[in-house]
Order: sequence, then C-alpha cells, then structure tokens
Amino acid sequence: MNREEALQKIAELQAELEEHNYKYYVLAQPEISDYDFDMKLKDLEKLEKDYDVNDPNSPTKRVGSDISADFEQVEHKYTMLSLSNAYSEEEITDFDTRVKKIIGTECEYVCELKYDGSSISLTYENGILVRAVTRGDGVKGDDVTTNVKTIRSIPLKLRGNDYPKNFEIRGEILMPFDVFNQLNTELKERGEALLANPRNTAAGTLKMKNSSVVASRKLDAYFYYMLGDDLPIDGHYEKLQKAREWGFKISKDTDVCKNLNEVFEFIQKWDTERFNLPVATDGVVIKVNSKRLQDNLGFTAKSPRWAIAFKFKAESASTVLKSVSYQVGRTGAVTPVANLEPVPIAGTIVKRASLHNADIIKNLDLHVGDTVFVEKGGEIIPKITDVDTAQRKPKSSPVVFIENCPECGTQLIRKEGEAAHYCPNEDGCPPQIKGKMEHFVSRKAMDIDGIGEQTINLLFKKNLLKSITDIYKIPQNSASIIGLEALNIPEDETSLEYDQALKIPLERVLFAFKGSVSLKTLEWLVKHFSPKEIASIQPKELLETSKKNKPDVKTFGEKECETISKFIKKYHQLQTFLKRIPDQTKEVYPENILINLAGLSKETAEKISEKYKFYYFIYNAGTENIEKEGLINFMEAGLLEEFFNSKIIDHSRINHISKISIQKKTFENILKGIETSKNAPFEKVLFGLGIRYVGETVAKKLAKRFRSIDKLIAATEEELVNVEDIGGRIAESVVEYFKDETHLKLIEELRKAGLLLEVQEIKENLPQILEGLTFVVTGNFGSKEIRENLKLQIEQLGGKVASGISKNTNFLVAGDKAGPEKINKAKKFNVIIFNKTEFEEHFKL
Ligand code: IVH
Repeated sequence: MNREEALQKIAELQAELEEHNYKYYVLAQPEISDYDFDMKLKDLEKLEKDYDVNDPNSPTKRVGSDISADFEQVEHKYTMLSLSNAYSEEEITDFDTRVKKIIGTECEYVCELKYDGSSISLTYENGILVRAVTRGDGVKGDDVTTNVKTIRSIPLKLRGNDYPKNFEIRGEILMPFDVFNQLNTELKERGEALLANPRNTAAGTLKMKNSSVVASRKLDAYFYYMLGDDLPIDGHYEKLQKAREWGFKISKDTDVCKNLNEVFEFIQKWDTERFNLPVATDGVVIKVNSKRLQDNLGFTAKSPRWAIAFKFKAESASTVLKSVSYQVGRTGAVTPVANLEPVPIAGTIVKRASLHNADIIKNLDLHVGDTVFVEKGGEIIPKITDVDTAQRKPKSSPVVFIENCPECGTQLIRKEGEAAHYCPNEDGCPPQIKGKMEHFVSRKAMDIDGIGEQTINLLFKKNLLKSITDIYKIPQNSASIIGLEALNIPEDETSLEYDQALKIPLERVLFAFKGSVSLKTLEWLVKHFSPKEIASIQPKELLETSKKNKPDVKTFGEKECETISKFIKKYHQLQTFLKRIPDQTKEVYPENILINLAGLSKETAEKISEKYKFYYFIYNAGTENIEKEGLINFMEAGLLEEFFNSKIIDHSRINHISKISIQKKTFENILKGIETSKNAPFEKVLFGLGIRYVGETVAKKLAKRFRSIDKLIAATEEELVNVEDIGGRIAESVVEYFKDETHLKLIEELRKAGLLLEVQEIKENLPQILEGLTFVVTGNFGSKEIRENLKLQIEQLGGKVASGISKNTNFLVAGDKAGPEKINKAKKFNVIIFNKTEFEEHFKL
C-alpha cells in the first residue's frame, strides 16, 4: 500500500468507526459486535502509527492517553449563566406573566428535563470538536478537552454538512446509574471507599489527570443549548433536532408546549416518570422557544429571562437527632448513622439517616438533641441537610466521631486523602470476617452454591464458622448444623439494614388479603399506581398501563385486569387503608398496619411495635396468646384480637422476613458446593482471599504471571510492579497481605483442604485438532463441572470458547434447555449445532 492508499484507508476506517460509535452510543442500535469494532480500531491504530498520521480527532484518540493533563483555564466566549429556580406552579405562572408582559404576545415553551450532572460547553469549528470547557465560575472554566474526547456519545466530527462554521453547544455530562452502581460494586469488591452519587462522580471523573481512566468510566452526555453568531433556525426546539442530525445526543423527552397547562402536565408526568430514566434528573427546564423572543427578553445579571428551572421537590422534614451510632461494613469502613425521632417523609416514616463520614458531621456541626432537616429524594437513603441552630439546647454536646471500632474495639484509622474511617482489624472484626467469607463463596470467587449471606450469618453466630478455612470443616460438623434455623433479621438495631427489615412492602399488605392475585402482580400494581389510585382501580386503567409497562414479559389480558380490580373492590377495609396512607407510600412500618388496618390508636400501636418491632413478632405474640404476652395490658386489646382473628387476612403473608433453615437436603447441597469449589482454578481462589485491591482482573493477571501461591508469596514489590497493570498500591497490598502469619496459616489450611493453589498446566502434546475453530457451549449438561470440563477440553485441543454467538462462531455445543435465542442466533449465522455426544463423535474424542 502506498502512502496515498494508506491515507485513503485511514479516512475510510475513521469514518466507519465514527459511524459505529454513533449507532452504538447515540442511537443505542449497534450494528457490529464489540469485538469487530475493536479489531477495526486496532487496524486503524496500526495504520496511523505506520504512516505517522496524528489526527487529534481520530476515533483512536478516544481511548485516552496516559500523559497527565494539567487543566488550562479558558475564558468562555459566552458566559455560562445559571437558571432561576421555581418550586411551585404559582412561580411558573409568575414567570409566564413576566414573559408575556415583555413580549406582548402568546409564545411556545419548550419543556426539557433538567439533567443533574456536570455542565460542559463544547466548541466546534468547521464541524470538528476543538474545545470542551467546564462551567467553572461561569466566566472561566477548565479545559477538559482530552477527557471529553473519551466520551463516546460526543461527536468529534459532525455528521452532514449544514452545520454553522463556528458554534458552541452546551449540555450535561452524566454517569448513568448502572455504570455508577457497577463502579461501586467493584470498589466494594476491592475493599475501597464507595462513591457518594453519580453527579459528583461524573464531575470528579472529568477532572481526572489520566484520560484512559476517564475512558473506562463510560460517561454519557445530553445537550440542550446551542449558541453562535450565525445559527440558522429561530426555534430552540428545532435547533436541537438539527443538532441531533449532526450527531449530538439530544433528549427525546422534550416537548413543545402551547400553554401553561401543557407545561404543568409535562412537569407532573416527569415528577415520577423520571425514576425510570437511566440518569439522574432534578427538575424540568422551561424555555421560550423562539430565539427572536429570547433576545427580546434578554438576561438579568445571573440568568436568562426566557427560561426557568422547576425543581422537583426532594421531600424534607425537620425532626430531632436522638443519637449517632456507627456501622462497620464488610471492608471495615465505618459509617455514622443518625437515629432520629420518627418523622414522615415522602410516604415513609424515617427513623434513621446516613451521615456518610466524619467530615459531614463536622461540617453540619451536629449536636445531640439538635433539630435537623432531613431530606429524601427518590429511592435514596435519607440524609441530614441542615441543623436548626436556633433551637439548639444550651448544654447539648457536639457529636464526636468515635475513635475505636464499635464491633471489636480496635483503634480506627483514616487513610490519607480518604473521607472514611476504617477498622484495621481485618481478620478479627466480626463484620469483616463475615464479609470475607461472603466474598469467598460469591459467584465470581469460589462460587459455592448453597452458602450465602444468611447461612454465613447463622453459622457465624453459632460459632461454627470463624474464618474461611472453617468452610471446609462444615462436612465434619453435620450433627451441629443440620436442623439450625433463624430469621433473617439484621442484629444491629441501629443499622440502616435493620430499618429496611422493619418496613413492610405495600404489596405484602395487599397480598395478605385473601384472594388469587399473585404477589408479583401486586408488586407491579404498587409500582405503577399510588395507594389512592389502587383503592378505586378500574380494569380499563389496568389494561392500558399493562400495555405500556409490561408486567414481567407478558401483558395482562382483560380477564386478569377484571380479577385484580374485583379483588380490591371486595375489601372495603383494604380500600380505607389505601386511602388513609400517604399517597407516595410504597412500604409501611408495622405500626402503620396496626393504626390503619386494625384501628388502634397511634400511642398503642407505637408501644406494641416498640416492644415487638417486626410484624412477624407482633403477629406471633398476638396469635399465640394475647393475654399471656401482655398485649392485653393495652386498652385496645379487643380491637387487636378481632384483627388477628379476622377471616379475611392471612397474617403470615404480611411477614416479609425470610427464614433460613438448614435441613438435610440443604446441607447436602452445601456439601456438594464445597466439593465442587475444590476444582476452582487458582485465580478464583486468589480473588476469593479478598486481598485489598486484588479484584478479579488483578487476580487473573497475578495467577498468570506467578503460576502458584508459593511463587506469589515469594514475589517482591518490584517483581509485582513489573506485571502489566499492577501498580505500586496493589503490589504493596499483596506483599503486606503475605507478611501476615495468620494469612500464611490460612493458606496452609486451604492447601490441606485440597484447593488448587497453582495454575493447572494445560496438558501439552495434545493434538491441536480444534485450532482455528470457535465454540460456544450452552445449556445444561447434568452438572456445572461437566460443562466447565467440556470448555477446558476444547481449549486444550486448541479451540477457542466464546461466550456469545457471532458470525465468527463455528460450533454451538448445546445441552438441555439451551436458550432459544442462542439457538436462533446460531441458525442465523449458520453455526453447526451439536449435542455433547455428537460433538464427541464428530471430532472422534
Ligand atoms: S439551559 C442559560 N437546560 O442546570 C441557560 N440547563 O442552573 C443554560 N441543566 O448550568 C442552561 N439540564 O448545568 C439548561 N435542559 C437543560 C438543563 C440545564 C440541566 C443545568 C445546567 C445549568 C444549570 C442551570
């Protein structure tokens, strides 16, 4: 290929990859597999390198670089103003009145969602992204172009040819909830401090020095405002539609509204619908559509007169801080929890709020007994936002963060640059020991079927599990284990999980009324309707909603909708209950049921639930013998008795606390899981040890490089750092881990138990008869081991095992119950389908 041909090929590949990027990230309709994309990207990289082409806007530049970028401050061409806020319909009506007074005519409004991320201004010159600047102070911001280029939904070169020569476009950089949650799961797995919310994480990510880390964080961006001296269209809405054609991600959830009523409808719809979006929103922005009218209206010093932001209410209330307690997590991180005088917020009664860390306590200047403001937004754990210092009692004492672990007494530490306090007693602190065991048995580690969090809790409490190695002593302890039973209730009365266990999902209360509607259906009902709507639900509404929001996989038919509506109509007690509880209620405390269903007074109900706490206990106390249990002391014992004897409620169905019981069958299952785990490859054992910073990938890399635990134990920090992707922090942590006598002893015991502590060498000399062939193995082969061995066999014979079917797949080996999608896809790509026997016969194995 001569240079000219190469340049031609480079341009083609760039265009093709940009097209795929656009289809994947903007339209969410990918056309090729990730693998094929990566291969093309590699080709392009090689060509650009060979022919010394350095195009800053090539798709190859999206992967980020390792060169650290110090951010330069850039002045905005157009100041980045903020919006004035409105919190009620009246304030929007006032806004509308002001607008009409100035422009003197009717006008169209555009309603958009207010995305809750980090704002960004992009400059395009001749269709090419030249600069990305953060808001900064509105006048000047940080130049974060290198980082922004890694965001796949942002076009580096525009599509089409009718874009203005020079313009800016503004939008919001966001981290989708699922990416954020995944990131936190990984952090948790590695034992690192968790991130607070997607907004701060997105903002923090944008300012990272290493753009390859930014690239890995999967940020997204929506755009909502275009500026320039020669923009072709008058309408804001129309401009955004054009911007979409040029390749920008523009929200589809935008409407042109002809009048205020339509604006209010938009707001009402999104007040709840927003919880179904993949990213965070905190309001609705209302903008005058016409640019001509916008110019007419102009700006105040701080914000445009042509737009206003309606902020969704984060429900809040004031209450009294009773005390602060401390929860120790699996990784030793200590979270302070505020215990509050119960207060109703957004349909639930709030008794606890997370305080996150010591800095937050200090910044709030919290004192015990303070009147505090508590906020609850969406499904998020309530938080304290402010203190009413005017109401502070003169002699109240400030909250001082504890110095020792509340679980084991060890002195807490705080690592440099981290907000959280940790208990360093990794191997002696109960929640940390339990956490290590849970990690060890988890799916990605040893994958021990039959042992989960509840089993570990139970066996730990009974002193039958004190460390990981005890798992392999379970078989000898059958006599003490079979027959064990416990309720799955968190023990710590001050923990946030305990609070969760107290609350009863509303669908359970509905389910308790005798009828033939399933719990799953009721769950769907509660998700899509408010209690008041449910109280008088009609089949027609159910049918319509079911068509829009499918319950599970199928929609309800007329008959099912009829049944659901009839079920609710049948019980006037249930209807009264639903009408009485606040309209956003999705879960209730036991006293709520006693007050609103049994008809008890608030005082009595609170006394009972203070004493018995969980509905399970209240009900059992009630049914076993009301008099004996002392419930009779309450004036309203008669009401209670009547309630428990009611023929229409099955009280056991209200109970949402599961019971764990290890009977013979469960025990056998556990034994099987333990046996199987002895074949888990070394990398999984290594990951399972839970060494700080050694996640799944790091464990794989270490296993591949050092081959056995003994070699890894002997490795120096220097040798470790020499392994690809292993940095100083990981190396130090690994060396530190193996320095500890307890850990070395643990490894010896695991060795004795028969675990694989070295890489199983692939048998050499086997004829590589499957070389060049790609297989997919799916379905049930009798046991997991058989399936895993089959995969191993294919690899040992030189074949490749892929997880999904693509056009590169040659054979699908299908066991029982192989998924129909896989089979159909295999047919589509002309993949040969074998069962295990056919496979063996075909290759004469
Ligand atoms: S318009 C001059 N539209 O909210 C008006 N802003 O307080 C420019 N935001 O800084 C902003 N979603 O970061 C606009 N659909 C939307 C928005 C939005 C989120 C953010 C933006 C802005 C802040 C205004």
